Amino acid sequence: KRIGLLYGGKSAEHEVSLSTATAVSKAIDYAKYEVHPIYITLDGQWLRGPELTQAVESTEQLQLKPNQILPNNITEFVLDKTSQTQFDVVFPLLHGTNGEDGTVQGLLEVLNLPYVGNGVLASSAGMDKVVMKQLFGVAGLQQVPYVYFLRKEWDQNQDELIAKCEQELSWPMFVKPANLGSSVGISKASNVEELIKAIQFAFQYDRKVIIEKGLNAREIEMGVLGNDRPNVSVAGEIKPMTEFYDYDSKYKDGSTALIIPAEIPTDVESTMKEMAIKAFKILDCAGLVRSDFFVTENNEVYINEVNTMPGFTPVSMYPLLWQHTGVSYPQLIDTLIELAIE
Ligand code: ADP
Ligand code: DAL
Ligand code: MG
Repeated sequence: KRIGLLYGGKSAEHEVSLSTATAVSKAIDYAKYEVHPIYITLDGQWLRGPELTQAVESTEQLQLKPNQILPNNITEFVLDKTSQTQFDVVFPLLHGTNGEDGTVQGLLEVLNLPYVGNGVLASSAGMDKVVMKQLFGVAGLQQVPYVYFLRKEWDQNQDELIAKCEQELSWPMFVKPANLGSSVGISKASNVEELIKAIQFAFQYDRKVIIEKGLNAREIEMGVLGNDRPNVSVAGEIKPMTEFYDYDSKYKDGSTALIIPAEIPTDVESTMKEMAIKAFKILDCAGLVRSDFFVTENNEVYINEVNTMPGFTPVSMYPLLWQHTGVSYPQLIDTLIELAIE
């Protein structure tokens, strides 16, 4: 099969995608697949290649900076109707905006190209933390209280919105851009001064910001794999050494411990499995999702979010959860590709 492997992307999670795509490129079975790598630069240019068989952690390393003369083997790439004759399946290994949010999925739909993972609706609803939480609410999933507003509203009613946060939530609070991932733009605030700073920071990434009541809880994740009758993996716990699971503790400093399988009572695990499936269904997901939970001291389960294209980096939970469930990395890739064309 001919696979169009999309990576990079016009997103704050660009470098995470490079790491994800490198890991997938190393694991994919080249005897089965003819891989056509397509790199989307940070400013949104589509280029052919290069192949990611060595670890690439930054755009600099790829030497594909905007406006730079491209290396010899790199040419522009145009995705159009003729791409149907070039690829059997497209694998959009893109995280965050302009890739995990339904935009690229919409393009692939219009071009009638089968692709791995979630469709337009699930991708866009899963990317917007407010819409996602509203749908989780409809599904009756337990989640932390939250408040959200737009930049325009903040500019006009700052005092009122802070009062609303204090009234409806409690300290500490977590402030997040509505549309992002990998903890980019997220801060923990323990007083009004920090809250204002955190809100201003989050508004650098999005015109919509969400504030949540901070929980003191364990962070446990599960992988979901399948289409209309999906399977759920074992659970894995994340133990960051930092204040919370921020960008550096996710990818950079190697300080976070991943414990698979997580040590949780069976009834808690069953509750989480049910919640993971409910979340998958309410967003109308396809292919894969990683569901992330908070589990409190007295074993109350809250859903935090789902990721419609979870990280596949060497320190990412999703592929590790499946390995511990009995699905090897190459088998996981095969399954995702099969699910795309089923
Ligand atoms: P992202 O989509 O960027 O991964 P998350 O909502 O998962 O955003 O938040 C990133 C991290 O911030 C979480 O993994 C967790 O460590 C911390 N966090 C987020 N929200 C809360 C909360 N309400 N209570 C406690 N910790 C939180
Ligand atoms: N958004 C990152 C890639 C993740 O959740 O794994
Ligand atoms: Mg997260």
